[in-house]
Amino acid sequence: MKKEGKKQRIILIMNVLVVGGGGREHAICWKLHQSSHVTHIFCAPGNAGIAEIATCVPIKPTDIERLAELAIAQKIDLTIVGMDESLSLGIVDLFKKKGLRIFGPTQNAAKLEWSKYFAKEFMLRHNIPTAPYACFEQRDFALAYAKSQEPPIVIKADGLALGKGVTIAKSFEEAKIAIHDCFDGKFGEAGKVVVIEEFMKGQEVSVFAICDGKEAVTLVPAQDYKRLYDGDLGPNTGGMGAYAPVPFVTPEMLGKIKEEIIMPTLNGMIKEGYPYQGILYCGLMLTEKGEPKVIEFNSRLGDPEAQVALPLLDEDLFEICWAVTEGDLGKYKEGLHRLGGAALCVVIASGGYPQKYQKGIPIEFSRLNEPVEVVSGKNPQTLEAILRAKGIIFHAGTARDTDDKLVSNGGRVLGVTALADSLLDAQVLAYKLCERIDFEGKYYRKDIGDKGMV
Ligand code: AMP
Ligand code: GLY
Repeated sequence: MKKEGKKQRIILIMNVLVVGGGGREHAICWKLHQSSHVTHIFCAPGNAGIAEIATCVPIKPTDIERLAELAIAQKIDLTIVGMDESLSLGIVDLFKKKGLRIFGPTQNAAKLEWSKYFAKEFMLRHNIPTAPYACFEQRDFALAYAKSQEPPIVIKADGLALGKGVTIAKSFEEAKIAIHDCFDGKFGEAGKVVVIEEFMKGQEVSVFAICDGKEAVTLVPAQDYKRLYDGDLGPNTGGMGAYAPVPFVTPEMLGKIKEEIIMPTLNGMIKEGYPYQGILYCGLMLTEKGEPKVIEFNSRLGDPEAQVALPLLDEDLFEICWAVTEGDLGKYKEGLHRLGGAALCVVIASGGYPQKYQKGIPIEFSRLNEPVEVVSGKNPQTLEAILRAKGIIFHAGTARDTDDKLVSNGGRVLGVTALADSLLDAQVLAYKLCERIDFEGKYYRKDIGDKGMV
């Protein structure tokens, strides 16, 4: 620990471990890298982009015992968990048992994400607004209930299913297939209990509350684009893009979300014996009547929402995470500072995603260096200058091949984020960057951000 400056601001000198290896974890590492407290970042398993600012260690996020060994061996001062799977396996409980400091909810607290059944019952117990629902452990009862409902009918596997366990059935026939899929084991253990709920109309938003058990502060609300094709058509994906801030989440609406959803959740978790520390991701529907209702809770940052929310955060992420582990978020009670303007992220995916896709396809950034004139607002600039000033290419599924060349290594390959004074400018910049990144079969949506410009 060293002291700096006249104000005697204490600078902690820390080794940090980030668990995960997607675009979200790249955004977390990128933000931590700016902290004066952080001397070294380890990331498990990381990716080729993260490797530029951190030491990547090839340990799976599910191998929590080996992650604890790594934290001990490398004298890690703070571990930040990006991935839900590690949380559902109890990484936080294990690390705490070994005396290691870690940011994230315990296994029981993270149940808000890993059991939709638990989350729904919890919301009912604590009067937290959500869609009416019923849960079933038996196929026949589920089928009979679905038959009695007006389509669209929402069918959800209880457990973690990589975002694929939800079907919005437009007819009873579709609902039937989804119910059979769950009980026939398509999602393994996750589908043993089926939640059937009412369809909600409105605008979806992601609100991230950073929680220390008692207090919560929110990041800038973001909107995710979950469907594969423009106009919100096609299959659900992990997320094809995001932007922030979201114009219809006014400060009043955010206040209402905090009062009606976030604080009752924290207080409910205290009452039930599982104080919630870490990120509470509230996936919300703002209904046509202007009421926020919970679609789902997650126990970590959204991906790709983190790629817009963190670049807009004008605070030291390490300090915030540290304060959470100290139970000391109260010092941010005025709220977190954020940069003005907007951020927009376009996900570039492999052709074929979310079904079958190839890996190992070379990725070329060389055309980004061409000094192309583009118009951003009123000021013509070169693309190179824009990238340096306002663009961030987050890596999601990338690796280096045996010749050290950058190649694709996943379904979602890159998250191209642009920051600008307005959402429209951020959109123009992000798409200019996307056009000039080359790899065979690349696919991205062309309408990210449109919903924020009505
Ligand atoms: P989930 O995994 O629970 O977030 O669901 C995936 C997606 O399905 C959500 O992002 C929504 O777009 C949609 N969805 C889930 N539940 C509902 C609902 N009750 N009404 C309308 N859309 C829903
Ligand atoms: N973008 C949705 C999620 O991270 O679950």
